[in-house]
Amino acid sequence: MPDSRRPVLVTRRLPQPALDRIAEHCDMTLYEGSGAMPRDELLEGISGKAGAVTLLTDKVDDEFLDAAGPGLRIVANYAVGFDNLDVPACTARGVMASNTPDVLTETTADTAWALMMAAARRVPEGDRFLRARTPWVWGPMMMLGQDVHHKTMGIVGFGRIGHALARRARGFGMRVVYFDVYRPSPELEAELGAEYRDLDDLLAESDFVSLHVNLTEETRHLMNAERLGRMKPTAVLVNTSRGPVIDEAALAEALRDGVIFAAGLDVFEKEPEVHPALLELENAVVIPHLGSATVDTRIAMGLLAADNLIAALDGERPPTLLNPDLLKR
Ligand code: DGY
Repeated sequence: MPDSRRPVLVTRRLPQPALDRIAEHCDMTLYEGSGAMPRDELLEGISGKAGAVTLLTDKVDDEFLDAAGPGLRIVANYAVGFDNLDVPACTARGVMASNTPDVLTETTADTAWALMMAAARRVPEGDRFLRARTPWVWGPMMMLGQDVHHKTMGIVGFGRIGHALARRARGFGMRVVYFDVYRPSPELEAELGAEYRDLDDLLAESDFVSLHVNLTEETRHLMNAERLGRMKPTAVLVNTSRGPVIDEAALAEALRDGVIFAAGLDVFEKEPEVHPALLELENAVVIPHLGSATVDTRIAMGLLAADNLIAALDGERPPTLLNPDLLKR
């Protein structure tokens, strides 16, 4: 029986196994709209709740926490990225915050790989070309792309997803270089066959640059015109992290002017909008934030978010808690 003392808000329809698990343990209010929960409804809906499952489209800030009231115990974000959560504000009010790491690592690395291959080998462009019924015969110079195998992969942000990408790159006989402010152990570096470079050297040396950083004030517009200009004219830039890590207007110019060869983008600076100049460019491969979008992974994310929610309401430590300092109090 759902416990009416544990009212929770789920801000979007999740895969059914996750909703079933939440409904079994809590008194669940589910937003059934097709898009992001409108802000006024979100603030009204969170009032008096003990927990919430939020999405990257929901901003959890002081206003949200005020609207929730003092009974809120956990905000369980359905995403590994948590730039939509003001974690220090949650901590200050004794509210736990959690995300969904690990379960989406391999799937997101697959998406980065797919974008890289698609952009390097001009797959969407070829598809559009045929669908436009363009007359053609096989030709030695037709739609030439860039090799992926045995090239150099530069990984910016060397966390779980970066490591998973390095493993894929090794399977393609690539050299792997990485940049991160945190260095992995020498053993892990050796296992992944990855060498550290500072960011400028990585950009100059890599044939493929894949971004896997969190969005913070330091990483906003990390890839600006100047850094794009350091990349090889044959290079491909891939982003499955967060859109604002790239200055999209600068990227569109770089793609148009041949500063770099192509880009594969899953995320956008002003999501869900895509910079109109990118949509005009054949060498920009764009997909609508599908990094973790497989059936199995979205179920796994939902179950992990549910487990975080329920653990906090049961007075236990959520498995992937973002503010463990709270428990020391
Ligand atoms: C995340 O988890 O942060 C993705 O962007 C959505 O899966």
